[in-house]
Amino acid sequence: MGVFESSIAAFLAPIADYLADEAVSEVLINGPKEIWVEKKGKLERTSAAFTDETALQAAVRNIAQFVGRKIDAENPTLDARLPDGSRIHAVLPPSARSGTTVAIRKFSKAAEITFDKLISFNSVSAAGAQFLTVCVELGKNMIVSGGTGSGKTTILNLLGGLLPAHERLMVVEDASELQIKAPHVVCFETKAANFEGKGALAIRDLVRSAMRLRPDRIIVGEVRGPEALDLITVMNTGHGGSMGTTHANTPMDALVRLETLAMMGDTTIPISALRRQIAGAVHLVVQAKRMHDGSRKLSHISEVLGVDEHGNYKVQDLFKFMQKGKTADGKILGEMEPCGVLPTFMQEIEVNGHHLPRSIFAKPGAVITSAAPVAKAASPAPAVAASRAMAPQAAAPVAQRPATVAPTSARPPMGMAPKKPGPTGGGQAA
Ligand SMILES: Nc1ncnc2c1ncn2[C@@H]1O[C@H](COP(=O)(O)OP(=O)(O)OP(=O)(O)O)[C@@H](O)[C@H]1O
Ligand SMILES: [Mg+2]
Repeated sequence: MGVFESSIAAFLAPIADYLADEAVSEVLINGPKEIWVEKKGKLERTSAAFTDETALQAAVRNIAQFVGRKIDAENPTLDARLPDGSRIHAVLPPSARSGTTVAIRKFSKAAEITFDKLISFNSVSAAGAQFLTVCVELGKNMIVSGGTGSGKTTILNLLGGLLPAHERLMVVEDASELQIKAPHVVCFETKAANFEGKGALAIRDLVRSAMRLRPDRIIVGEVRGPEALDLITVMNTGHGGSMGTTHANTPMDALVRLETLAMMGDTTIPISALRRQIAGAVHLVVQAKRMHDGSRKLSHISEVLGVDEHGNYKVQDLFKFMQKGKTADGKILGEMEPCGVLPTFMQEIEVNGHHLPRSIFAKPGAVITSAAPVAKAASPAPAVAASRAMAPQAAAPVAQRPATVAPTSARPPMGMAPKKPGPTGGGQAA
């Protein structure tokens, strides 16, 4: 055991058992006397405690020291990693009202989670997983969206692991988490400023460097700042199959979130142009969700179709988790179902020899015919009030991303009833 490991182990002795317990995914410390753990997606309070606030702060300062950062009255928060890769965030009092507050996200055994396991957990359907696999192979740009701890990084890991062997992948992360199993992966991690406030390297800097290092694809682990614009640029400049995650609750919200983040930088791009860029860049949004029973599921796999004549994003769900009920002990019953609509790039899937039967997109029991094109649903309403306010300019025709197939309608026919527009956007369900 190295010096860091043994010193951390001593300082964190009160929670050592939980750090060692594989069933525990998070350890949450709300001051020295209140410690919670997450097991199987559910929180439970433990009887563990630190001697006092001083002992807890000593542990946090020790971690900061080993990662070359500082946590004190002037810098009262800390982002760091433990020697085993677990992620830690801490906030000192007085901002943390009940004493030093810490969250430790245990280093997940992400490498051990496979699509087969996700299917067996009922987190995704076999058809949904098969479709995502083909999308990675075809180089579709994807955003994995979801709330905190919903499984975004896990999904991104899996998607990254499906990359064709001959491609060079550059991974950019704030704190290194992804463990992508592919033959040619180069990983970058941001660097905090030193004690003099110098030497910081932000995600934006690293994405720009990555672009000059002959990437085939770039993955940005977590998009939570103006680097959204850089990822969009990457996606729009021939690095097909690039990916990132963002915090949002629906696929439509994920696009709005990217837009908001992109505008946080020094960009002067008009909002209408930005929206077209985002809608053109992102082919699919994979929505992850932590359910009330603690399980994680893919709630949506949705295709981004462009922006409509009002400048609003058009998003079409292809697969969606449908809850059917709940057991007496609170377990959510249901499964991911197809939404009865083909992806616009179905032809591309087929001409590239992927064996993805059209029937996997059909609703259970629906008859597929090659009937006349399904009429597009009426223009969706804006996703959020903010985007409504920002969308007056849009008299332009619907902007489609560079066509991957050449259907005359926005969507190939399946002989199924058109979807009714949802309250928040075309085909977008909450
Ligand atoms: N489908 C799943 N079924 C069961 N557990 C899962 C599933 N997906 C992820 N997990 C577990 O849930 C925890 C959180 O997953 P993950 O780190 O991927 O979430 P995240 O959305 O990236 O979180 P954050 O918002 O903090 O970045 C991990 O312990 C992971 O192993
Ligand atoms: Mg994550």
